[in-house]
Parts: sequence; C-alpha cells; structure tokens
Amino acid sequence: MPQLRLDKFISERTEYSRSEIKSLTAKGKITLNGSPAKRSDVKIDPDADAVCVCGHEVSAQRFRYLLLNKPDGYVCSTDEKDGETVMSLIPPELRTKGMFPAGRLDKDSLGALLITDDGALAHRMLSPRHHIPKIYIVKLARPFESKYIDIFKNGVVLADGEKCLPARVRNVEYSDKLAFIQLYEGKYHQVKRMFASVENHVERLARISLGGLILPEKLRVGECMELLHKDVENLFSEPDFDTVCSGFHDNLSAILINNQL
Ligand code: URA
Repeated sequence: MPQLRLDKFISERTEYSRSEIKSLTAKGKITLNGSPAKRSDVKIDPDADAVCVCGHEVSAQRFRYLLLNKPDGYVCSTDEKDGETVMSLIPPELRTKGMFPAGRLDKDSLGALLITDDGALAHRMLSPRHHIPKIYIVKLARPFESKYIDIFKNGVVLADGEKCLPARVRNVEYSDKLAFIQLYEGKYHQVKRMFASVENHVERLARISLGGLILPEKLRVGECMELLHKDVENLFSEPDFDTVCSGFHDNLSAILINNQL
C-alpha cells in the first residue's frame, strides 16, 4: 500500500479528528511499531506498520467488524434520540464514522450483536434470502415443556395470526426455566411472541450466535471485540444447534438466572 500520513490513516478508521490525534501523539498515546510516534504527520505503510491508539491496534482493513456482547438497557440504533445506544459502548479507537448495529436486539436483550461500517455485508446478513440462523438462550417464567419442540418445529402461529418458519428449541439440562431456541428469521419481538403463543413468558433473552459466529466466553457483557475476516465469513456458515447448545458456557445463563446486571 502507498505511504499514508499517520493522522489521515487513524482519522479514516476511528472517530478521532486530526487535532485529537495530534494531541494524543503529544501525550505518547499513539504508537508506531511499539514506540510512541513522534509526530502525527509521519508517513506510514498501513500494511506493514502496526499503529496503536491508547493500546488498541488500528486495523488496516477497509471495513471494521465488531462483535458486541450487548447489555440490558441499550437500544440498537445510531440515533441518541432513541435512548442510550449500543454505539456508546464502543471505545472511540474502535469506532469508525459509518458504523451501525447490523440487526436488532430489544432494549432489554443481551448478547451477540454485530457492529460494522460494511453496509453490503449487513445487507447480505440481514436479507431473509440468506437464512442466517440465530441461537438465543432464554429464561422463561414457567418451566419448559417438551411439547414446544414439535410446536416450534411445525412453525408456530403468533397471536396476530402470523406464521413463523420452523424453529428448533430445547431445554437447558440444569434448569427447567432455561431454553435454547434457533430461528432463521427476525420478526419483531419474535422469540418473546413465540413463547407467549405457548402460554409461557420470556423474562430474559440473550443471543449466543449469529450464523457460525459464536459469542466467545471471554467477551463479558458490555464488551466488544474486533473480528477478523475469517470470523466474519463464519456468519454465513450454519452451526450445529446441539453442538452450540451443549458447548455453551454457563456465565451468560448465570446472569439470566440471577438477574445480575
Ligand atoms: N426476539 C425477541 O423477542 N427479542 C430480541 O431481542 C431478539 C429476538
């Protein structure tokens, strides 16, 4: 890649302005190949040089993809008029100007949410044509009943008469009020409405996978991580429902059960 000014490189890939970058450089907060950069207008080679701002590497990738473990109480929007948004959880060194949440989780839902500035990928991911499966863990008000398995498999009909695509559901072995559910579509409040149609009630909900991209155990609620290209491609692969459920770590279910947050 041709040589590029350090401040231009950083300002195109983060939310920092050139003047902020200048002041961060003066404070020694910007490093180039491990040493504090002396000037913000120095020329770099983004493919070969490692640039860090406040300890976070600034990626040379054209688009940025973040996986956020969304906490309760944040809206999936870029507009602050809607309330406190998930964007406020992204550190400025990871944020780029065109970023938005690709998909929706309700304000009170937790779990895997993709934040990106790649509109084409978001479109591909959200298009019903691609049928990206999503797996959720839910805490129910009443015990799980095995009859849900067939009802959901046959496509449950919601209270307003809308029919859902076939979905998979299973209980979590150690708690009769926890269940996993896998959907191939994303109707408004769909998981909550599906359980309402079988006379149960979802008290808490967390998304644990988007396609083959599984929420990693190390990603605590409220934290985000940058994804590599191979992780992003995983979005379009189909995970095995039972393998994801049985390999799922307990810390999110503990949060759901104990309402700790
Ligand atoms: N279904 C719901 O009801 N809520 C979510 O946040 C996601 C899926």
